[in-house]
Amino acid sequence: MRHLLDTRTLSRDEAILILDTAEEMDAAQQREVKKLPALRGKTVVNLFYEDSTRTRISFEAAAKRLSADVINFSAKGSSVSKGESLKDTAQTLQAIGADGVVIRHPASGAPERLARSGWIDAGVLNAGDGTHEHPTQALLDAFTMRRRLFADSSRGRDLDGVSVVIVGDVAHSRVARSNLWLLNALGAHVSFVAPETLLPYGARDWPVTLHHSLDAALRDEQPDVVMLLRIQTERMHAAFFPNEREYARNWGLDDARLGRLGERTIVMHPGPMNRGLEISSRAADSERSTVLEQVANGVSVRMAALYLLLSGSERSTHE
Ligand code: CP
Repeated sequence: MRHLLDTRTLSRDEAILILDTAEEMDAAQQREVKKLPALRGKTVVNLFYEDSTRTRISFEAAAKRLSADVINFSAKGSSVSKGESLKDTAQTLQAIGADGVVIRHPASGAPERLARSGWIDAGVLNAGDGTHEHPTQALLDAFTMRRRLFADSSRGRDLDGVSVVIVGDVAHSRVARSNLWLLNALGAHVSFVAPETLLPYGARDWPVTLHHSLDAALRDEQPDVVMLLRIQTERMHAAFFPNEREYARNWGLDDARLGRLGERTIVMHPGPMNRGLEISSRAADSERSTVLEQVANGVSVRMAALYLLLSGSERSTHE
């Protein structure tokens, strides 16, 4: 594996290789093997042009648990604020000997530009680019679904027949897109639920069932998984958003809807959450909620991705 840029071009076998490798990473940590020597001598740079809590700290924890050296670079407070280009920043990272670059960027396509540019030899991992993709989030979501839905028999298996309802601001969500492609590759059935204004142009051509009513979707799809998306007000024109009260009433997972879910249905959210808007506090903190498991699983999944990209043991799975 050379780069991890998206899930759209990830095959079922490649996805399962990452998920199974993450199981091994998790098992090592459960055995209290906190630090593996796999990436000793390698340097991983976290290159973040947008804010992050979960993704940045879990990539940092993952790289350190594989014994890599980690450099954290935030565009705020760097020479990016003086106008330095992505090319000059990349060449600076090349000069300090980066082996892996984890990049989050507001521009869709920035990680691919970095990977294909020739400015840097490092493996590139997309940590979220614009509204395009967030592949490690989708992988940690799939890892969490396998674990919760199939318990001890999760290794080696896909999500064939699993019904996943993804609710909310799909238009601005790289998490929704990465989940759509990955879950389709793994055999799940995906539905999007959103007001018309929060569905992206072109969604009707995607392999997904579209709903505008959350109540109808919960009734018709009988989901194994309900995934709420954050309302991304910072990316949104006011005309696209109903208003908070109307949104919560029609598309929020409130206490009443929580009570109507199937006995084994799980509730997911990538975080950060807007409590009381897309998800009630009771839903977020309930036993169905996997929000904190998703964060914990993110470390194992990112360890797997870094290992497969940078250790040199699996060079051929995904460009
Ligand atoms: N889920 C996610 O990407 O969270 P952060 O923005 O905190 O990294």
